[in-house]
Amino acid sequence: MKGAFITATGTGVGKTWLATALSTACVQRGKRVAAIKPIETGVDPDARDAIELARACGNESLATADGLYRAKEPLAPYAIEKRGGPSVGSLRAMTKRIRELAKDADYTIVEGVGGVLVPLDRERTIADLAAQLDLQTVIVARNALGVLSYTLTAVEALRKRKVSVRAIVLNHVDRKRRDDMSRTSNADVLADYLPRIPILRVPRVQTPGDMVDAATQLYNTLKI
Ligand SMILES: Nc1ncnc2c1ncn2[C@@H]1O[C@H](COP(=O)(O)OP(=O)(O)OP(=O)(O)O)[C@@H](O)[C@H]1O
Ligand SMILES: [Mg+2]
Repeated sequence: MKGAFITATGTGVGKTWLATALSTACVQRGKRVAAIKPIETGVDPDARDAIELARACGNESLATADGLYRAKEPLAPYAIEKRGGPSVGSLRAMTKRIRELAKDADYTIVEGVGGVLVPLDRERTIADLAAQLDLQTVIVARNALGVLSYTLTAVEALRKRKVSVRAIVLNHVDRKRRDDMSRTSNADVLADYLPRIPILRVPRVQTPGDMVDAATQLYNTLKI
């Protein structure tokens, strides 16, 4: 299976917007894409990320397919399990299901949940799912003060599990009026620490559709 795994330094930093835009960029270039959110919590009543991704790749049935993890509470899967809710189960089985769903696709885009070490169960985190999927892993991070440590921590956590990071996307999520001088130096500093990983910047935009140009840069970087 060829594709990208979109993870992040945390929740709400732009994984869905980027994955949606990357999906659109791929579709515009004639690729058949499967864009999947295999684990989604806070599903009340809809799996909103999964629906956005499925729409972007033109296969809405991917959002409601069997064998994916869905839970109502807006919590990490392990927290949900501890409350008596559903458990994620075998990552091998989940990977097999993703492969089945993506069997007709040229390129598969999988969005993680939260950041790289979100506990899926007592032992495993999203980083283990990244290792199991063996796609091109992309870290999305909020381009703001603090991102250096968040990003370096995420890269180390993935490396420890033998997952190599293929790109880092510094996303301008925060409102323009908020002053943050780190925004202009974050990419350069990270590049010195991570010379082998391409670092892309995404400007603040109004909709995921406005991110397609930046996603096209990612498309080229990942050599899709
Ligand atoms: N480049 C951007 N410009 C402006 N707003 C952005 C940008 N990227 C993300 N956002 C805002 O941040 C919100 C969160 O983005 P998104 O839903 O993609 O994050 P996520 O990492 O997928 O979150 P989750 O962990 O809940 O899945 C969006 O709804 C949007 O309001
Ligand atoms: Mg999301």
